[in-house]
Amino acid sequence: MKSALLQQQTKFLIAALSLAILAGCYRGQPSSKPPIHLNPNMDTQEKYKPMGESKFYEDHLDMRTPPEGTVARGELRADKILYEGKNPDGSLVLTNPLPVSTALLKTGQERFNIYCSPCHGGAGDGKGIMTKYRYPVPPTNLHDQRLIDSPDGHFFDVITHGIRNMPLYAHQIPVETRWAIVAYVRALQLSQNASLADVPKDVQAQLGKK
Ligand code: HEC
Repeated sequence: MKSALLQQQTKFLIAALSLAILAGCYRGQPSSKPPIHLNPNMDTQEKYKPMGESKFYEDHLDMRTPPEGTVARGELRADKILYEGKNPDGSLVLTNPLPVSTALLKTGQERFNIYCSPCHGGAGDGKGIMTKYRYPVPPTNLHDQRLIDSPDGHFFDVITHGIRNMPLYAHQIPVETRWAIVAYVRALQLSQNASLADVPKDVQAQLGKK
């Protein structure tokens, strides 16, 4: 008698539970209540969040500073030439440490047009759109003889640290891309100061006709 009642109760419980589960699965029904969460495991775990508070550490900060003298993986930046554009003796490197290829120039062109052309102009002549707005000083013409004669490291340095009234672009432009831009600036300089002899022979003939 007792077991029959228990059996009935169990059946009822199973039926009620499956109904609840099915109801939980039913989507598309707007509700102000939070959805039924059958298996909350990792979603609601205790965890540290950036800028959060910690009850464990004495300074109550979630975010820890790295122990002194440690370097994050990939952040050693021992290559002074690549990361600073400087030789070990501190002088600016004369030439781009990255091998100049069409792909590098294409990247440089794209990034120059994004980051530099608003001020320096698409041709690098300093006549970008910002000259129509107020800015303390006009952007430098990148075809100035002084800049043609400057080492590649100078351009890298200017992009990395800014110069006088020009802001720095180290945060927006990764190191390799900065060098790509330097290569493209050199191409721009050549484009404005080239002679017919710089052009491949077959193209020379075409240009001569014009
Ligand atoms: C917000 C405008 C602006 C942008 C964007 C900008 N520049 Fe400049 N740049 C200037 C100004 C203004 C100067 C002149 C600063 C001065 O003389 O005070 C300058 C100067 C320079 C110089 C001359 C430095 C020297 O030796 O006198 C170089 C080279 C240069 N910029 C390269 C770049 C490159 C490459 C980029 C793109 C990554 C870039 N600039 C983006 C405004 C800009």
